[in-house]
Order: sequence, then structure tokens, then C-alpha cells
Amino acid sequence: MSDEMGILETIYTNRAMRRIKPDPVPKELLLKLIDAANQAPSGSNVQNGRWIVVTDPDQKARLAELNKKAVDRYLERARATSVEHQDDAKRQRMFDAVEWQAEHLHEIPALVIACLEVGDPPDRFIVGANAGGSIWPGVQNLLLAARALGLGAAPTTLGLTDRDAVKEVLNLPDTIEAFCLIPVGYPMGKFGPVSRRPVEEIMRWDRWS
Ligand SMILES: Cc1cc2nc3c(=O)[nH]c(=O)nc-3n(C[C@H](O)[C@H](O)[C@H](O)COP(=O)(O)O)c2cc1C
Repeated sequence: MSDEMGILETIYTNRAMRRIKPDPVPKELLLKLIDAANQAPSGSNVQNGRWIVVTDPDQKARLAELNKKAVDRYLERARATSVEHQDDAKRQRMFDAVEWQAEHLHEIPALVIACLEVGDPPDRFIVGANAGGSIWPGVQNLLLAARALGLGAAPTTLGLTDRDAVKEVLNLPDTIEAFCLIPVGYPMGKFGPVSRRPVEEIMRWDRWS
């Protein structure tokens, strides 16, 4: 265990890593990621997270095609946006990375799809106000575990926009919904600190004002 990172260093250096080498990732490591994801909490402890690890080239190509369509549409608008907490040049570099990933998604060794068993008929709580609440903690666990193991990963949702097409590719029954697609592999770039708004800006004690 001594070679593993401390949890705070892992959290503070867990950037979205989108440029990923095509080098394969050992199956044991991919299993470790899903095992870490599976330790996350779920509402009422129903343990309804479901995970699909896509490594088959044809399956990856089909998902990459869906993702590319959604990313192209997104970037058309997103490129023109700006936000006060990120300078424009940095923002454009982020979009460049999103574009790079869309063009290379099929070459990334593993595409992990985080899903929820939503029930039949779908549970109002799981798909309503609490939508995704029982899968995102698992996604974050997976991202942290990937970082700790030196693997690059990023949470993405654009590639799941066409839900019917995704269901068909993954052969998902109506009781399972896909929430997040996480491309995983060895990163081309270096891990680095995340940059976030200062805590004084996003937090108040006791009441907002
Ligand atoms: C709900 C959610 C959806 C996201 N969808 C996408 C996506 O479709 N494509 C993508 O490249 N990144 C996606 N991201 C990643 C964010 O862009 C990224 O976490 C954010 O820019 C912060 O990046 P940083 O950690 O490198 O600073 C998503 C993140 C979240 C939390």
C-alpha cells in the first residue's frame, strides 16, 4: 500500500484527462476501478449501480460515432462561450481536448459506462429529483481510483445524448439507464492540480445571505 497516493493529493490532482494513449490497460486494473466504484454509497443502500467496460473495437467505434456527433454539435456553440473563472485561452484548450477525444475515442483502451438499474416501472425517486444520485459517487470513486493508479480518465455525458442509440449498442434493457461514459487509459500528458473557484466564493456559513 505504501506506493499509493494520499486521498487529498489524489483529489487535488484529479483533472479531466482526455488525451489517452492507445496502450492497453491490464484487465486487473480495470476490474480494480469498477471494484472501487462499487464501494460508493447508494440511496437506501439499493446498490443499483451497473457498469459496462467496453474494450471491443467494434463496440468502441459505435460509441465513438455517437459521441462525435454530439461533440460536434456541442462545440459549435460551446467554442463561443466564456466564463469568468477560466481564461479564454485555457477554455479553448479544454475544447481542443474535447475535440481530440472525440476524434480518438475508438482508440482509447477502455470506455466505462456507468449505469443505474432504475426498475420496472422506473422508480420515481431514481429517475426524478434524485436522478443519478446513486451513480455519481461511484463515478467519482472510479476517477479517484484511476488517478491513484496512474490512469487518465474523465467523466463524459455528451456521447450518451442519443439514449435509444446507446441502449441499442450496449443492449441495455429498459430497466437500465446509462449516465456517464468514462474513457480510461494511460494519459499522454501529465497530471496536475485542478483549478477551481476559491472556497470563499462558493461557501457560506449557516445561511446564504
Ligand atoms: C456531469 C458532467 C458531464 C460532463 N460531460 C463531459 C463531456 O461530455 N465531455 C467532456 O469532455 N467532458 C465532460 N465533463 C468533464 C468536465 O468538462 C470537467 O470535469 C470540467 O471541465 C473540469 O475539468 P478539470 O477537472 O480538468 O478542471 C463532464 C463533467 C461532468 C461532471
